[in-house]
Amino acid sequence: MPGLSGPSDYSQEPSRHPCLHINAKEPFNAEPPRSALVSSYVTPVELFFKRNHGPIPLVDDIERYCVDINGLIETPKKLYFRDIRMLPKYNVTATLQCAGNRRTAMSITRKVKGVGWNVSAIGNAVWGGAKLADILELIGVPKLTSSTQSGGKHIEFVSIDKCEEENGGPYKASIPLSQATNPEADVLLAYEMNGEPLNRDHGYPLRVIVPGVIGARSVKWLDSINIIAEECQGFFMQKDYKMFPPSVDWGNISWNTRKPQMDFPVQSVICSLEDAQSIKPGKVRISGYAVSGGCRGIERIDVSIDGGKTWREATRFQKTGTPYIADGISNDKWAWVLFELTVDIPQSTEIIAKAVDSAANVQPEKVQDIWNLRGILNTSWHRVHVRIGHSNM
Ligand code: MTE
Repeated sequence: MPGLSGPSDYSQEPSRHPCLHINAKEPFNAEPPRSALVSSYVTPVELFFKRNHGPIPLVDDIERYCVDINGLIETPKKLYFRDIRMLPKYNVTATLQCAGNRRTAMSITRKVKGVGWNVSAIGNAVWGGAKLADILELIGVPKLTSSTQSGGKHIEFVSIDKCEEENGGPYKASIPLSQATNPEADVLLAYEMNGEPLNRDHGYPLRVIVPGVIGARSVKWLDSINIIAEECQGFFMQKDYKMFPPSVDWGNISWNTRKPQMDFPVQSVICSLEDAQSIKPGKVRISGYAVSGGCRGIERIDVSIDGGKTWREATRFQKTGTPYIADGISNDKWAWVLFELTVDIPQSTEIIAKAVDSAANVQPEKVQDIWNLRGILNTSWHRVHVRIGHSNM
């Protein structure tokens, strides 16, 4: 692709914030301390988790950079960066969560394969860009189309990075055409993150943002878009990011028996306390994030300070000063909800959070029940143990 290239080694990686916890150096995978997630509703770019499968691409010449649109359409088209910037711009506040968030905790019960992540493979940002529905309309695919005349049913996004899993080929993924052409689904070709041009780690110059869906489908460093009949056959759609039952292991796996994971289930995590933290007896502020995929709001967050015997409801909020009501019209419908509860903790105990989404889905109690060999979607009740002693808060 003229204008954008994917290096084959790690000699030209960008610099990163020193407080990120590095889970893998090459490709670079890192997450912030959990406390950073509740310091602000919108996660600062430098503290946003970084999830890569190859070296970070480089822009050689932004004037020459363009996205090729091919596949089951009458006339293939090249869209230059300036053409995309001329389209109506939307700012969508959306939470991106890696399907591997909380994988390390799943691995404790039984080993799983994949980069280990603590609880911060998630962040909330304001993404600025053009709507994919507008772009597809430009090339003759009307809004709310689920199938084109020539049988196109999926939109594939292809990057330029060189990924080992793809034998040195690019990262790719697809979403259904019905989602891509639905303006309400807010799928973006984003060039901004939190009001600034995307940085290299997060997809400069252009990435896809698919709100409400696991982060794996939000392809960075976009090179081309294909309109295709079947979903993308790439590694990350067909041989990864699928949820298998606990009975499936590496000896009996049959990848094509499961669909690629798209929406993510309801999740919540306590971020104001580390596990095994010492605290002083008395009032303790418990805060964290809750989020659900598929545009479902957060109906409730229950917190227990006695290991799950009794529960109380935490306060939910997005923007300060506006009370949060699940699925309310003034919400950021794709964004996480922060929660807080201040309670008296007189003795060492286990604190638990579990969220309920607007479809009344609730987090499962035990990680064992949702164990899967790739360690995705650990949404089990989040637990932290605190002991009364010298405070290190
Ligand atoms: N896009 C490309 N081209 N290459 C990648 O490795 N990783 C995906 C997705 N898009 C990836 C990609 C995964 S698994 C996630 S969770 C998100 O990007 C992470 O986005 P971030 O690094 O901006 O947080």
